[in-house]
Amino acid sequence: MAWSKEMPANPVVAVAGATGAVGREMLVCLEKLNFPASEVRLLASARSAGQKIPFAGCGQVPAGELTVQEMTEESFQGVDIALFSAGASISKKFRQAVVDAGAVMIDNSSAFRVDDDVPLVVPEVNAHDLAWHSGVIANPNCTTIQMVVALEPLRALGHIDRIVVSSYQSASGAGAKGMAELEDQIGKALAGQDFEPAAFAHQIAFNCIPHIDVFMEDGYTKEEWKMVVETKKIMGDPLVKVAPTCVRVPVLRCHSESINLEFDRPVDVEEAKKALANGVHVVLEDDPASNVYPMPALHAGSFDTFVGRVRRDPTVSGDRGLALWVVADQLLRGAALNAVMIAQELLPKA
Ligand code: A2P
Repeated sequence: MAWSKEMPANPVVAVAGATGAVGREMLVCLEKLNFPASEVRLLASARSAGQKIPFAGCGQVPAGELTVQEMTEESFQGVDIALFSAGASISKKFRQAVVDAGAVMIDNSSAFRVDDDVPLVVPEVNAHDLAWHSGVIANPNCTTIQMVVALEPLRALGHIDRIVVSSYQSASGAGAKGMAELEDQIGKALAGQDFEPAAFAHQIAFNCIPHIDVFMEDGYTKEEWKMVVETKKIMGDPLVKVAPTCVRVPVLRCHSESINLEFDRPVDVEEAKKALANGVHVVLEDDPASNVYPMPALHAGSFDTFVGRVRRDPTVSGDRGLALWVVADQLLRGAALNAVMIAQELLPKA
């Protein structure tokens, strides 16, 4: 059943997983977008209860320190919007408590993304799907978000029949522990000390690991499977074919993607660049003669999705192929920012 409760102009916002890599960025997005909250409630595990987190303020919430509370079923009383980034099992555990409290859950985990009654939303692509949510809205996988944001302006040029994508995913995609492990291993590897991988299946320092999430029967990983099914659902296009390879690389923050596209008709490279330059929250950064192209080291902390190396893919017949390189801060664009943008879409229209 579609959601009928009216969203107040100044909602109470809970951040569930506020001490995590994405949760902290959710706070930054609430601040930077000056989200019109009347209260921001920070929730995490019992381990973090009492921890104070500086907050620059947003809406009616003044600047100061916010105190983390232990997340329990009672935490959602009075909450209007619950931004969740504490892992899929925690989202499943608290879903009913959130909905029973009358709050809308915007969930960054993979728990509900493919459920038929849960919209999977990237506002620039399918904000219209918010109309049918029934209390839970899923935030897509970070790798998928930045790809569909970059592809959206190109969809005006023709139908995208096929996408071949290789990702170069940063350590922070595995949460705060992933970042800590990369930093720790780099120090230890340089000092010639031993270390045991924990957050990743293998050493991440000075390495690339073609394995994100678990392997499935067909030889693809679950991360790759997510890119296939989520892209179809967000684009509302069950026919688009997606062939991904997801790789963890020793970068702290920002995912990069090499993307090859096959359209149903000829596509002009200059037209594609023009469309990208005019894309919503897309920045074209493409001047190879001056060594200008997007790179993760340049774009950590940015809200935009950067596209460069736009060129013809000559392996697709009839001038229907394009190749491009996409970089975005996956903690922001691929997670926290997308969630807060969804929350903005839920606000009453002025
Ligand atoms: P805590 O810091 O108290 O463990 P990340 O993705 O960076 O690893 O962050 C995970 C987030 O989920 C953290 O905020 C973490 O809180 C929170 N979390 C983990 N387990 C629980 C739990 N059982 N109940 C509530 N929050 C949890």
